[in-house]
Amino acid sequence: MCTNGNPYSLIRTEVLDVIEETPTIKTLRMKPEKALVFRAGQFIEMAVPGVGEAPFTPSSRSSQTDEISVSVMRVGTVTQEIHRLGSGDIVGLRGPYGSEYPLDEFAGREVLVVGGGCGFAPLRSLMYSLFEMSDQFKSLYFRGGCRKPGELLYRDEMKGWAQRDDLNMVLTVDEGDDTWDGPVGVVTTILDDVDMDVASGVAIVCGPPIMMKFATFKVLEMGFADENIFLSMEKNMSCGIGKCGHCRLGEYYCCKDGPVFRYSQIKDYSEIWD
Ligand SMILES: Cc1cc2nc3c(=O)[nH]c(=O)nc-3n(C[C@H](O)[C@H](O)[C@H](O)COP(=O)(O)OP(=O)(O)OC[C@H]3O[C@@H](n4cnc5c(N)ncnc54)[C@H](O)[C@@H]3O)c2cc1C
Ligand code: FES
Repeated sequence: MCTNGNPYSLIRTEVLDVIEETPTIKTLRMKPEKALVFRAGQFIEMAVPGVGEAPFTPSSRSSQTDEISVSVMRVGTVTQEIHRLGSGDIVGLRGPYGSEYPLDEFAGREVLVVGGGCGFAPLRSLMYSLFEMSDQFKSLYFRGGCRKPGELLYRDEMKGWAQRDDLNMVLTVDEGDDTWDGPVGVVTTILDDVDMDVASGVAIVCGPPIMMKFATFKVLEMGFADENIFLSMEKNMSCGIGKCGHCRLGEYYCCKDGPVFRYSQIKDYSEIWD
């Protein structure tokens, strides 16, 4: 793995440990050989030697540059191999790529973050950044949902978030069980009690496409302006650097112009929720 100006060069990276978050999602804590500095919203490409590579948005603090974590859902070839990795194994990382959340623009405003399922992974990194500047927001809301309690990412850490004075947080599951005493229903059902100034507020939505679609329609119905709704578009990607055209969305390449877009930029494309 070399780092010689070639855009596909990889940073040799050691897996420090692996946390089994849910039956299908593992978090890998890794140490790149040289600092990999990203901003919340940006993604990296992770290569498993001899297998291939795939894009992931780090779930760790962007301010921590000597380590990086990704939370990976097992869906196919590369992610299955990533799930087989253990401490001491070596992978390659390249990036960061793409757009970040415009955090400076959020200062002085009310911020609503809506997450679903695997979308909690990139949002954890965003939330760390928001917590670091939380004195600059009028208020900060987090509304998250997943299918079942056992699929809730970072469940123990979330218990700590629920105690924070600077965060108004509610989580829901589609289907409860005896470990769950919170709300039951899809994530849009826990947005009704969000009492914020939607005219100037910011809404951030991240999750599976179907959840993104209905959560976006809900925040529009609540009165958020198109340009104040931020979506993270995880379209199929290959090169990650604007060369192959795989991630095209209308006039944009999601890897270069996104993955973070304002709804106003992309709302007219029919393939937005595919
Ligand atoms: C910017 C970005 C950030 C991402 N961040 C994360 C993350 O933090 N955690 C995480 O678990 N996943 C994330 N993904 C999705 C992840 O990249 C895919 O799950 C992965 O590429 C699948 O590779 P595979 O070889 O295991 O699956 P494949 O064998 O290639 O495909 C298996 C299935 O997954 C679907 N699929 C393949 N690639 C993608 C893709 N890029 N997006 C959605 N579905 C896909 C295929 O259509 C197929 O149904 C992100 C994707 C993008 C574009
Ligand atoms: S992934 Fe190749 S152009 Fe975006």
